[in-house]
Amino acid sequence: MRITLRLTLSLLVVVAAVAAFSAFFQLRQEREIQQEDLGRRSLLLAQSLQESVEPLLTKGPSQKLQRLVERFGNRERLAGVAVYDLKGTPLAVTASLASVLPGLPPIVAESMTAGVDVGGFVTVGGRDLHLHALPLRPDDKIAGALLIVHDAAFIQSHLSRIWRRTFLRVMIQMVLITFVTLLVVKWNIAGPLEQAAEWMKKLRLGETSEPLKLPKADFFAPIAKEVSTFAAHLAAAKSAAEQEARLRENAESLWTPERLKEHVRTRLKGKPLFIVSNREPYMDMHRGRAIETIIPAGGLVTALDPVLRSCGGTWVAHGAGDADFETADANGRIRVPPEDPCYTLRRVAITKEEEDGYYYGFSNEGFWPLCHIAHARPVFREEDWAQYQRVNQKFADAVVEEIAGVEEPCLLIQDYHFALLPSLLRARRPDARIAIFWHIPWPNPEAFGICPWQKELLSGMLGADLIGFHTQFHCNNFLDTVDRVLESRIDWERFSVIKGGHPTVVKPFPISVAFPNAFQDIAPIGKPVLDRAALLKELGTKAEFLGVGVERMDYTKGVLERLRAVERFLEKYPQYQGRFSFAQIGAPSRTHIKRYHDFLAEVDAEVERINWKFKARDWKPVVYLKKHHSHREILPFYMHADLCMVTSLHDGMNLVAKEFVAAREDNGGVLILSRFAGASRELRDALIINPYDIEQTADAIRYALEMDSEERSARMKRSRETIRENNIYRWAGNLITELSQIRREPRPAVPPAV
Ligand code: G6P
Repeated sequence: MRITLRLTLSLLVVVAAVAAFSAFFQLRQEREIQQEDLGRRSLLLAQSLQESVEPLLTKGPSQKLQRLVERFGNRERLAGVAVYDLKGTPLAVTASLASVLPGLPPIVAESMTAGVDVGGFVTVGGRDLHLHALPLRPDDKIAGALLIVHDAAFIQSHLSRIWRRTFLRVMIQMVLITFVTLLVVKWNIAGPLEQAAEWMKKLRLGETSEPLKLPKADFFAPIAKEVSTFAAHLAAAKSAAEQEARLRENAESLWTPERLKEHVRTRLKGKPLFIVSNREPYMDMHRGRAIETIIPAGGLVTALDPVLRSCGGTWVAHGAGDADFETADANGRIRVPPEDPCYTLRRVAITKEEEDGYYYGFSNEGFWPLCHIAHARPVFREEDWAQYQRVNQKFADAVVEEIAGVEEPCLLIQDYHFALLPSLLRARRPDARIAIFWHIPWPNPEAFGICPWQKELLSGMLGADLIGFHTQFHCNNFLDTVDRVLESRIDWERFSVIKGGHPTVVKPFPISVAFPNAFQDIAPIGKPVLDRAALLKELGTKAEFLGVGVERMDYTKGVLERLRAVERFLEKYPQYQGRFSFAQIGAPSRTHIKRYHDFLAEVDAEVERINWKFKARDWKPVVYLKKHHSHREILPFYMHADLCMVTSLHDGMNLVAKEFVAAREDNGGVLILSRFAGASRELRDALIINPYDIEQTADAIRYALEMDSEERSARMKRSRETIRENNIYRWAGNLITELSQIRREPRPAVPPAV
């Protein structure tokens, strides 16, 4: 039986049963009311007649008495009136009563015997009657009785009328309910299901890549979400299979998530991979009453999340979101990504004092400017150093807990927040295979020499089996620094350091993005991104050409230099005034540090100054969007910009450059790239500039806008090819190959550096 029919029948049965019940009770109540009413009326009538009859009773049957009862007997619904003497002999009877009630009803004798009124319903000859007998006492002594007889048939016909009306009402209700049910089912269930089936069919035939759109989002949202995710997985699997087939056909060796997964499984013999970083990939934040998950800005997260999504494992990081420990379990663990959990995030809690000293102080006021040549003076404070050591120790404890029970666990430690962690872990788990990857530049030995704790930091890092940088240049700087500072042996042929009998290999591993699925947190089948016209409308500027910059607002990124170059370009080539707008997306970062706070104010002022200088009605030279943007929000900028500017003053790699290239499936757009960003070593087809040279950057903007389309697409194609081959899966694959190949010889544990 079809569901609609079943639903309708069930509803009809329920409605009919409820209606029958309520009608039954209503009728019963109505009957009681009518009967009581009739009883009352009979009593009143009997009492009013009693006074006139009693004086005439003693005189026996008389014409006067007969006339009296006849007069009374004319009333509505009255079947008759009779007066009896003590023996029950009728003294006067209305003419109509004789045919209705032939004999003496027992109620009359009952009333005289009991000396009270007696009333009741009887059916005589198929007729419903109500009888009321009242004893008559002319001289205070019962001498007879008065009988009032009502025709009660009207009660039944009244009840039948009510029943007919109720029946009609129920019928109408049933028809209406059936009709409305069918409509509701059609609109809200059958329609969307048909739509979903049609969508699935189109998906299967490859005729759509749009998400499933169902009208009643609230009702169908969970199904639509699951089906879309499922479809996304299928689409990804299908495209991976096609890609694999293509690769086999071309005998290429492209790295894909599937290949990395298989590689890690073989290399680590099925053991899980562990990543440690300060910044977590998913941060839970209170937003009013709700909790929102955000993906923090920064290259580290962009690069590493796809790695763990592909091969699973555990990521240990600082739980910095204000709702992080509400969503995680009692041990700080949570499965992520939220929409499709495939690895474990272990959140480590640190106190405000620890965060101040370790993160803001030592890492970002000391180490960060120490490694970046961006003319910000590093600040080293004794108390920050103490917190840095304490937090490294805290993370060592958390990591030891996570790797308990795993033999020779493979650990990838990230960045300058954890220089001491390799040797702290080596001391506690000598069997671990440890790599530390440095996401930022490494300075020359003179520059590094200003750090009061350089020995401790270097010794801490050398607890690792492998140290990775983005470029050979940074590896050389590191080896030079170790050579100057520590007692150790450098093997320049193998690029390794041997300290205390423990070798550490130092190699470049240029990091990258998850090409071709760089925007995988936006499911492949996701909301369509904004088109160019809608984007410009949202930006509130009328422009023919659009440039974009995407940054975590950091003074090393060359944002001020970039804005000056935009200003100079508009000044030097005034034909572009009113036609070129530059959108700067800026996620505020590390704002508790004065240098960052001041930097934000400087950018505000610069944007304001330039916009004022070229003030026009519908056009803005610079649109500054100062807030955290999700990947979904950033993608339309990458897709529709004519050029993207990466003008870092000093940068380990810079993944914005690679993300922009990854987003340009149309081979459009031009990348203007600082020669001081690691990415410039690989992306040779970008327009490479010196961000300090404002004139050169301004000319690069013009060149980018006027480049002929063939050159533009040839450059972009080559850049995409570079990233396709050197994607994040290859980076992780190479790192893990190197780490798993390191020969393990039994050796004494290295004592911790601090
Ligand atoms: C750089 C660092 C990362 C860091 C990121 C964001 O890319 O190398 O380690 O996560 O900036 O900075 P934040 O301080 O917000 O983590």
